Amino acid sequence: MIDLSSLVYELDRQSTSPLFVQLSNAIRHRIVSGEIMPRLRLPPSRSLATDLDLSRSTITNAYEQLVAEGYIEGRRGSGFYSCPIGEIEFNPEPEGSHDPQLSGPPAESRKRLHPGSPDMRLFPYRQWAQCVSRVARLAPKALISTDDSFGNIQLRQSIARYLKDWRGLEASAEQILITAGSIDALEICVRTLADSGDYVGLENPGYQPLRNIVLNLGLRPFWLAAGEHGPEVPQIKLAEAVPKLTILTPSHQFPLGGAMSPLKRREFLQWAEQTDSWIIEDDYDSEFRYAGSPIQALAGFDTTDRTIYVGTFSKIFSEGLRLGFLVAPVSLLTEFSNTLSRFGVKAASASQAALSSFLDSGEFYRHLRRCRRIYAERRKFLISLLQQRLDDVISFEDHAAGMQLLARLPPGYDDQIIVKAASKQGVFVSALSSHYSKGDKQHGLLLGFCGFTEEEIESNISVIERIIREL
Ligand SMILES: Cc1ncc(COP(=O)(O)O)c(C=O)c1O
Repeated sequence: MIDLSSLVYELDRQSTSPLFVQLSNAIRHRIVSGEIMPRLRLPPSRSLATDLDLSRSTITNAYEQLVAEGYIEGRRGSGFYSCPIGEIEFNPEPEGSHDPQLSGPPAESRKRLHPGSPDMRLFPYRQWAQCVSRVARLAPKALISTDDSFGNIQLRQSIARYLKDWRGLEASAEQILITAGSIDALEICVRTLADSGDYVGLENPGYQPLRNIVLNLGLRPFWLAAGEHGPEVPQIKLAEAVPKLTILTPSHQFPLGGAMSPLKRREFLQWAEQTDSWIIEDDYDSEFRYAGSPIQALAGFDTTDRTIYVGTFSKIFSEGLRLGFLVAPVSLLTEFSNTLSRFGVKAASASQAALSSFLDSGEFYRHLRRCRRIYAERRKFLISLLQQRLDDVISFEDHAAGMQLLARLPPGYDDQIIVKAASKQGVFVSALSSHYSKGDKQHGLLLGFCGFTEEEIESNISVIERIIREL
């Protein structure tokens, strides 16, 4: 077993760089330089924590970071081992430089609780690089072009398998259209199914970029106020203002959280059938459910083919990948194809074949399971911290899902003032009131927890706590 106790002299406890980052950097450096030979066992987290006078979670975070990068591997029941450095390798970090891909953005820019962002420090870069390199060797044409405006057929087949296994949704690859993230998919749906002047049902509160797209296209929002079991179903009586389509977040309402009840789902589907309208299911973060069984997609309930399902890889994978997809009923495929001809394809082909290989190799699912476990711990930590520090001010419902927690504020607290003050100190959270478009606005803070370690969450919550106490 390797002795890492001398690392104690390299750790700078006053530094703004988190200790787990310093530790993973130091171990990585030893592996890359050859000081730690391949296939050697690293000390167990408990004993290294004692040797270095660090918490066990710091050691675990550092080891997990190195596993994600491919420098070490965990073996069931026998700990962590250094990996051989293969032909695909990242450059070791030169002294004093900073590679955001390997160690995340600088501490200062990470000092935030931005909602909805994944932790790119956990990303399995090495495995992804192998998928890209496989495509580059075996099918280089796929990196720069696709023959089909709906996207790479292998990726569409991989997504069809993913939807069946993980979302209970049966769809053929032909029904799947690859988009530049879910926002592009939503825009394609709006362009395909509504014309200028038509009504579009939107949740209030809801996702603001979507509202902006609807307004920009000259469409009229039909606001659906959020209720306890989901948003209001539009009244059929208002025949002159029946929305052509309604965009919903049934698995995890954005930004309030909470899943739509089965009864409400049925009501929406009945409404769509009776009014000849469409439902767009924006399933933006449903992979992240931390308790209970997964909630089946609304589209999986639909026996009348009135639902278009929209998914994204921004949350599990990377916001920068800009790949998402929609699943259209067969009856709409020609209309969607026409929209792509009229307005163009925005999804880039470069990563599509590699993503298919990443899904098929199982790496994607490993990464998803791992993120879910880590995010669940971070969420638990954030909740207990809020209970300890701010229990007298904030309240929240525990929906055990998603990538952010909504901390509600009582009357008299203005969320925008808190958000502004926090951003001046480098902590970026989102104000609940800013997601309302109409009517009474409730106040609260949307706190992201996925992209941040416990140390980072704690230091950021301290900033928020100070601001709230000084109001
Ligand atoms: C509710 C909701 N819909 C859609 C999106 C857009 O995601 P994408 O990055 O896939 O475009 C987001 C992003 O956070 C979101 O919160």
